[in-house]
Parts: sequence; structure tokens; C-alpha cells
Amino acid sequence: METSKPAKAVKNAVKTASGKIADALTPDVPGAPGSAPPSVEEPTTPHDPLPPKPAQGAPQTGTPTGAETGVPATAKGQQGAYLTTANGARLRDTDHSLKAGPRGPVLLQDHHLREKITHFDHERIPERVVHARGAGAHGVFTAYGTAEAVTRAGFLKKGRETDVFVRFSTVLGSRGSADTVRDTRGFATKFYTDEGTFDLVGNNMPVFFIQDAIKFPDIIHAGKPHPDREIPQAQSAHDTFWDFVSLHTEAQHHTIWNMSDRGIPRSYRTMEGFGVHTFRLVNEAGETVLAKFHWKPKLGVHSLTWEEAQLLGGMDPDFHRRDLYDAIEAGAYPEWELGIQVFPDTPEETFAGVDLLDPTKIVPEELAEVQPIGRLVLNRTPTNFFAETEQVAFHLGHLPQGIDVTNDPLLQGRLFSYVDTQLTRLGGPNFTQIPINRPHAAVNDMLRDGFHQHAVHAGVAPYRPNSLDGGNPFPAGDAEHAFVDVPVTVAQAPKVRANPASFDDHYSQVRLFWSSMSPVEKDHIIRAYTFELGKCYHQAIKERQLQCLANIDPVLCEQVATGLGLPAPQPTEPLADVTPSPALSQVGREWPSDGRMVGIVVDPDGDLDGVDEVRRAVFAAGMVPLLIAPHAGVVGGMPVQRTFATGRSVEFDAVLLAGAPAPAPDAVPARDATAGTPATVDPRVLLLVEESWRHAKAVGAWGAGVTVLEQAGVAGTPGVVTAGSGPEALAAVQQLMAAHRVWERFPATVA
Ligand code: HEM
Repeated sequence: METSKPAKAVKNAVKTASGKIADALTPDVPGAPGSAPPSVEEPTTPHDPLPPKPAQGAPQTGTPTGAETGVPATAKGQQGAYLTTANGARLRDTDHSLKAGPRGPVLLQDHHLREKITHFDHERIPERVVHARGAGAHGVFTAYGTAEAVTRAGFLKKGRETDVFVRFSTVLGSRGSADTVRDTRGFATKFYTDEGTFDLVGNNMPVFFIQDAIKFPDIIHAGKPHPDREIPQAQSAHDTFWDFVSLHTEAQHHTIWNMSDRGIPRSYRTMEGFGVHTFRLVNEAGETVLAKFHWKPKLGVHSLTWEEAQLLGGMDPDFHRRDLYDAIEAGAYPEWELGIQVFPDTPEETFAGVDLLDPTKIVPEELAEVQPIGRLVLNRTPTNFFAETEQVAFHLGHLPQGIDVTNDPLLQGRLFSYVDTQLTRLGGPNFTQIPINRPHAAVNDMLRDGFHQHAVHAGVAPYRPNSLDGGNPFPAGDAEHAFVDVPVTVAQAPKVRANPASFDDHYSQVRLFWSSMSPVEKDHIIRAYTFELGKCYHQAIKERQLQCLANIDPVLCEQVATGLGLPAPQPTEPLADVTPSPALSQVGREWPSDGRMVGIVVDPDGDLDGVDEVRRAVFAAGMVPLLIAPHAGVVGGMPVQRTFATGRSVEFDAVLLAGAPAPAPDAVPARDATAGTPATVDPRVLLLVEESWRHAKAVGAWGAGVTVLEQAGVAGTPGVVTAGSGPEALAAVQQLMAAHRVWERFPATVA
């Protein structure tokens, strides 16, 4: 994979001869709202709306039926310089309602007042019943051509570029919940192919809680807040969740993924994605294979620590959303490779003993390699969050020719559920006409009328066969890339409410996952189960889940039982003999550090030339530097992004210490617990270093910064480097960041 484009900020930083940015107060890190710096005075000279920010994209502006309008995709919704009504009448005043004299009463005839308030009253739509909290971005998918032998899908032909929109999400929380909670993450991708839209509606975990869609309301009711008090929000650490998963034990595999570090990703950019179900691919010759889709992040799979996730829930509940948008704005475009595991399409629909229709099972990558078929780059943020991210509607039935569904009973139920919920959420049957949902293929669908109809359909015969519209629309064939319903043989069988016997194995792959973890990952899993079950009130539920853990692994069970103060039960099922799958572990490989956040602690009386030099070096390395100083504003001509009061270690992937700043005037312990006891170095800087150390992050120092390491008591420990200059310290830190964390700083309690 190629490296991402240099950060936009690098260009800003290098274009001034002085070596300092021109306007020190112009933000040169991503995230500043608006596309132009605001004036202090209210602007009064009429002019057209400002352009969007350079990093912002928008849906194509084709018509609801796919005709090109020629309007640029970044055109704004609003036009002209003047305030108008929704019908375009220019207005003189929007600050006062029309009254009978200055002291009222307000007149009912004030159309502008009523229109403004009425529209406001209806601004909210129902949030998604699940995956309500999410963030989306635009991008492009480029096919390698390596899937051409197995699928006729045009967008997978070599070199084809397809526009995409991706929405990442949590599952359980409400729309306003925190990003960093322990949960599964949605990873839904809309490919606007010229053969119709393809929605790959996946998660960051390859298995699901249930095998049959009829259980979806049950697992979600169990995971959502308790119906009587509506707590806890966005969490599985409560009785109803554990009540369900310990009784409905097919959920145990997905549950251990949630309890692992995968449940608290560092960033959307560092998540794998999975289509979960097995799909059927069909090629030009009509031959079929079964396949599973995988997204592999360029930056590797990387997670938060539990303490970081908890701190971020308060410090920055929008952490993942901000990270996604800041990375795109900085030019560090998030990237994934799409890959497929391919299996022969046999009547049994199994591979290496794994039932491919069971969504609680994986096929280890060591048994079926993930073959890369294309690259996804997210390169534009939404122009309008509501219009794009809230209104996007995914559906598993959105398939182009060459990709078809299988009989996975979870997948089959999903085919019904999404459009059904969207009818309510998006207010009627015409939501495919909302700009973000419009296909980039020509549409001639005979669907008519309904709420919010945007297309002005011509003709008189929206039916087939017809002669009054000249027979249009006509059925397509192979030559016109028509969708292929693969003629799979359906076995003659009695009508039953039952699962295949292979679905009864609920533990062997949970044990496979556990056995594939490194000691530190196992340690995190133990602590996650102990925390979650420790938050349950009922001992019976804890005991029941401990029984499930005993059927996974005795060490796991014993350690969690110890934490809960309960006896560890014996297994009730034989422990499966499994071969670990190293691909499941996040530890042990090295990854690029593009777009990672480097905090630089600055002493205004210290080595500011050195700070400037290292700041440029961070930009040049494709990462984002954030200066942390005693006060806001400017230090040495450089903009300060965080103060000792507003910054916290959890925002940074690594920390560089350019000095040993003395306690700032606002380091007042009586007012702020983080201000600590005054020392020669500001106590919040010491806290920053201690936390970074505890979270196994790389820390580097040079010059007076070395004093901070000594005062924090971390000098000379693994992953804490000192150097003769800032760039040297950065180089050493960047090398450490390749492994994501300094793993040896986590003491593991299990082998
Ligand atoms: C493999 C299992 C599943 C995966 C990977 C999955 C994934 C997702 C994702 C990523 C979203 C968010 C889409 C967005 O960003 O707008 C979503 C939403 C949703 N899912 Fe699932 N889901 C699964 C199973 C199910 C099942 C079994 C049902 C119901 C039978 C279901 C019903 C829903 C509903 C109703 C929504 C909200 C859709 C909307 O309001 O637009 N899901 N799911």
C-alpha cells in the first residue's frame, strides 16, 4: 500500500520562509469549524455563502433517478446572499416576531415566525433502533481486479474506481452517547457502483450474537438500558445483557470478542471490518463460490486501554468521530484493503468443518487466506452531518450482479428488517431519493408516489407489460449487467422452526479465540469480564456466566471468579482441542504511524526552536503534532492546541517533552484534583507522563524535558527514550509507535 498524502498542515507549515506559520492564530491542525477564520465584528456586507472546507465532500447531485445535473457535488444547499423564507421571499428581520406594537401581542399572521418555529419543531427524526451513534465519511474504492475470476461484479474489475460512503457506529448507545464505550462497532459501506448500489453492512467483529434473526429483538432488548430506569446507557455491563448471553449461549463467541480489546478500538481507522455472513459470488460463466468479506486497516488493528476508554468518555465523548474527521482533514486518509476468503460452493456449505451459514463461526485465516481485492480510501468529510450520516440507509439487499445472498438465517431476516425500519425512520418509502442514498446508476423502477416524492415521473404506464409507454422499462439480460439470482437448489425438507445440528456447538470457537490471544490480551479479557459481571446485581447471573467461562477455559473462569469473589465451577462440556489462529491477535506486528497524534509539552521559557523543529518533523512524518503549553494562544509564534488544563494524555498516541515547565498559575490543587501537589514541574505534566506510561505509550524527551521523566519516576524504563534533539527523540518514539504500544509495560497475569 502506498503511504497517505502529506498532511495539509505540512504544506501550511513549509510554505512560509520564516519557518513559522504566517498567522500564528490560524489553526494549522484539523478541526477548526468553518472554512474561513471569523472576524470579531459581526459581518454585515452581503456576500454568497462561504465555500465548504477543502476536506468536505457531499453526495453527487444527480437527480433521484440518476440523471446528471452538472452541479458540483460540493455545491451548498443554501444560495444567494440574503435571508429568505423557505419559498424564497427575502426577509428584513429574523430577530423579532410581528407584534401589535413593541409590547405585543404576537400576531398569528407572522408566516416567518410560524414557518421558522414549525420547521424547528420537526428537526429531529427517530434515531436508529440500533447503531444510533455513528459517523460517516466519503471515499473511493479502487479494485485490484483479483476478484474477476470469481465474480462478474463490474466494480471489482481491475482499476475501476467507485465512490463510497462509510458509516461507523456503536450498537447499543443512543445518538448522543460516548464513542469509546465497550461495544461492537458497525462498519457499513455503500458502494455507488454503476450496476446499482452495493451495501456491505458489516461490523468490526466477524461473528454475531445470534444465529437466527428472530432473536435480534431479544439480544437488543437485553443489551439496551433496563426498561424501568433506562440505565445504563451504551453499555453491556448490566444484568439483562449477561442474563441473556449466559442463557442463550450461542452469544458467547461474540461476547468474548466484545470483552477483548476489539470492543474498545483506538480509532475507526484501526478497526478491521467483516461482512460476517457468507455470500455467494457468481462469475461471467455462471460459476459460483462462497465468500466472506474482510476489511484490513492500513494502520493495523489497535485498541484503547480500558482506562483510556473510560477517561475519554468524559474528556472527549466524540473521540472517534473527531479522530476520523481530523485525520481526513489533515490529509492522513484512512485506508483499508478489502479482501475475501473464498470457499467452494458445495451442497453442504461447509469449509474445514465450519458451517458457513452459521454467523457465530469464523473460518480461521490460516485455513482460508484473505485475498486482497481492492483498496478503500476515505478522503472527504460530510458537508452536513444530518443530510449524509443520519439519513444514509443501508440494506443487505442492495446487491449488484455477481454478489448474492446465502441461506444464513440471520442474513435472511436482515433482508426484511432494514427497509422496514427505514420506512419509519426516514418517513416513507422514497428515502432512496435522499441525496446520500441516490444510486449512481440510472433508475427506472416503476415505484411511484408516496411521501416526499422528489422525482417527477413522466409517462402513463408504470407497469409491465405495457404498450402506452412504448414498453419501457424493458427487462435486462446478461449483456446489460442484470442482477443474477443464482439458481441454488433448495433441498426438499419439512417446514420446521429448527437449526441445523452444527449450530449447536457454542464453545469450540470461543476457546479458539481465547487460545489465540497473547498474555496481555488475555489479561484484558479477564479484566473486562470481571468489570462487566461485577456491575451486575444478581449472583445467579454471575454464576451462570462463570459456568459459560468454565466451558471456554479454566484459567479464564478462575481469574474472573476470583475477582467476583465466587467459586469457579467445573466445565459441563468437554473443552475443545483447538489450534490457535495468530491472525486473531492484535499484538506482535508493526504498522505505519500515519495520522497519529503526538503531544508536545512546551515550556515557554525552554527550547522553542527545538519545538518548532520537532513540530515540523512530526508533520513531515505524516502525523499531527499538538502543542501542550501552560496557557492558550501562542508560544514562540506557534499556536497552542492544548493547555495543561484542557489536555489529557488519552488524546495522544505518544508524548514528547521539550522542557520542564514550572507549575502554571492555574495549577491549584484545591480547585482541580489533576493539579496535584505543586512540584518543580507542573503536576499536570507529571500526570500526563504517568498516564502515558501506564497506558504503555511511547514517551520521548530531550534537553530539560529529561527532568520531567525523572520527576515522574519513569526514566530509563521500556519505551521511555531520551535524545540529543527533538527530531532524534521523535525518530525513536515513532519506531516504538509501530508496535502500537510498549507491550512489555503491561504486566500479564496469564501465560
Ligand atoms: C451479522 C449481523 C449484523 C450486522 C453485521 C449488523 C450491522 C449493522 C450496521 C453496521 C448497522 C448500522 C447501519 C448504519 O450505519 O446506518 C445496522 C443497523 C441496523 N440493524 Fe443490523 N446488523 C446485524 C444483524 C442485524 C439483525 C439480525 C437485525 C434484525 C433482524 C438487524 C437490524 C438492524 C436495524 C433495524 C438497523 C437500523 C437500520 C436503520 O435504521 O437504518 N441487524 N446493523
